[in-house]
Amino acid sequence: MQSYSLIAPAKINLYLEILGDRPDGFHELIMILQSIELADRIDIQPSDTQKIYLYCDHPQVPTDETNLAYRAAQLMCDVFPEMHANYGGVSIKITKNIPVAAGLAGGSGNAAAVLVGINLLWQLGLTQPELQDLAAKLGSDIPFCIAGGTAMATGRGEKLDEIKHLNDIWVILAKYENISVATPWAYQTYRQQYSDTYIRDLTAIKSRTAKIHSRPLVEAINHQNRQQIGKLLHNDLEKVVLPSYPQVAELKSAFAAQDVLGTMMSGSGPTVFALCESQTQAIAVKDQVRTQIRDPQLKFWVTKFASSGIQIKL
Ligand code: C5P
Repeated sequence: MQSYSLIAPAKINLYLEILGDRPDGFHELIMILQSIELADRIDIQPSDTQKIYLYCDHPQVPTDETNLAYRAAQLMCDVFPEMHANYGGVSIKITKNIPVAAGLAGGSGNAAAVLVGINLLWQLGLTQPELQDLAAKLGSDIPFCIAGGTAMATGRGEKLDEIKHLNDIWVILAKYENISVATPWAYQTYRQQYSDTYIRDLTAIKSRTAKIHSRPLVEAINHQNRQQIGKLLHNDLEKVVLPSYPQVAELKSAFAAQDVLGTMMSGSGPTVFALCESQTQAIAVKDQVRTQIRDPQLKFWVTKFASSGIQIKL
């Protein structure tokens, strides 16, 4: 029986700017997204019945239709009913390495892997843009997770533009196991506090989005200027998450006091990341911060930028 093992990398946000409200209730964003090597593994094979089966080794991850990976399989069954009838259902096993509800797109990456896996299992021959169109129906970050690397995302986060890829930057991730942030809460709170700064006019949003290409961070990325990249990290959601979670704010300050290129909260948090020139430096900084904040709930990972999204494990 044919089966596939896929690697689904996490992502961090090097830049997240909220421009305004969208008619669909989401926010109009400008983001720069980066894949990292910390990844989950997804094993997918046909099931004996027409059903979708989902297993996960992490107790906090639901295995029913509330899981994005399950919904990705359901979407493929709905869009390709004849293939579903021919090939039957699928059995999906998720091996989690990416922390959950962490702002690292772990769930989105799992869903992206399921779309890629079913495309292979059912020999659908869908192209990457076609898979990304399906991915956008499930969640804003999922189209990026398919292609990965370094990309600019606009609209809801689903419109992707290639930018120069970044390599050889090391990343320390830090997350309190007992703190998780719900993404809808972060955006709603931002709307409550900052909607007076929102750009209301769609044309103004479009011209602001178009100008991003000349923005300093994109230029720093084009020139692979690591020092500048570190200084220009930005995330609007920090404005609501850090005041509500003082431990996360303190963690970011601890990284900022170290010899790092830059530090920022990823997505809606609560993971904080710091960028370093080398693995040796990343390990040294992690050890320093661990000594300063002696909380057994605080977990660290040292990883590096990755140049692609979903990969087939051979
Ligand atoms: O698309 P995704 O499922 O990742 O979004 C999770 C939540 O984050 C949405 O329900 C919405 O509350 C918020 N969000 C938003 N604007 C975006 C992306 C997400 O308001 N562009």
